[in-house]
Amino acid sequence: METEVLSPDEAGLSRAARIVKSGGLVAFPTETVYGLGACGLWAEAVAKLFEVKGRPTFDPVILHVASPKEARGLWARVPRLAHKLMKRFWPGPLTLVLPRKPGVPDLVTAGLPTVAVRMPSHPVALDLLRRAGCPMAAPSANRFGRLSPTHHAAVLEQLGGRIDAVIASGPTPVGIESTVVSLVEDPPVVLRPGGTPLEALRELVPNLRVEARVGPSASPGTLPRHYMPSTPLFLLTPGTSEGSEQALDRRRCGLLAFRDRWEGFARVEVLSPQGDLITAAANFFTALRVLDQEGLEAIVAEPVPETGLGVAMMDRLRRAASGKARLDPTRVWIRPRE
Ligand code: TXA
Ligand code: MG
Repeated sequence: METEVLSPDEAGLSRAARIVKSGGLVAFPTETVYGLGACGLWAEAVAKLFEVKGRPTFDPVILHVASPKEARGLWARVPRLAHKLMKRFWPGPLTLVLPRKPGVPDLVTAGLPTVAVRMPSHPVALDLLRRAGCPMAAPSANRFGRLSPTHHAAVLEQLGGRIDAVIASGPTPVGIESTVVSLVEDPPVVLRPGGTPLEALRELVPNLRVEARVGPSASPGTLPRHYMPSTPLFLLTPGTSEGSEQALDRRRCGLLAFRDRWEGFARVEVLSPQGDLITAAANFFTALRVLDQEGLEAIVAEPVPETGLGVAMMDRLRRAASGKARLDPTRVWIRPRE
């Protein structure tokens, strides 16, 4: 794939918006760092973001909006404090986390019941958001484990040839990611310090807390805790021998299948009948949530190929399988159909 380098002018921005509307990926400047943007209400487009970044886990991503009104359309509940913070700090480097509305794809929130939203102040970002006409999911436009890019040259260095386009707009003014504040808890809590100083936030939120694990030793993947099903989850081990004590009765189990619709389970969710990892990732959290709501004895997950987004899915599945199982969750055998 050749990455188009677009100018931040009329022609470039309308081209960028068209790419986003057709499900593509465009890196664009915000006042903090460059974001890798996709239509945020389209799970397949969001799945591509994770693939291109090469993230071994799914982290929730921020939805970027062109107005507070658009943000209110994504949140199920907007407390008075949120209105106050938006009025004072938007547009700008402050991301607010609140309960989400059902239309927000599970992949955006990594299955969490909340969604992070911010309105950037960079004129190019705002112009693109207005033209694209949908909230844009945009993690920082770097490969996994690399530094967030503050110049389009850094984006091209890391993602050139992997994304549809980058808007070449030079350096970003703030240069550090947005401050992420969760308003779900009371008092509100800072999940990530960033471009909006804590002192400024404390003027409006005197009782603001800072998440204990925030700091040099905190690992980004552990913040926040991700969605895990409450039903025990087992990873299917192909070839585990018959008669094993690890057997589960499939009639009382749900199956998270990769491509084939297995027989005999109480409920089966197929991630991608074509065996496509991007589609599978787009469906992943929703499928897990559906299975979790069935009141089943267990969820059995078929391993997915461990390449591309399969690495992130297997990471989530292994975490979900560990710790809560009575059986060895990584060695499960399924009783044949009677
Ligand atoms: O400045 C920024 O925020 C940049 C620009 C592009 O906007 N974006 C950015 O995105 O840094 P990313 O994906 O690299 O970081 C998103 C942060 C992560 O720490 C993630 O855990 C947190 O936001 N986050 C996203 N959704 C969340 C949610 N529902 N609950 C809690 N934290 C959330
Ligand atoms: Mg990042």
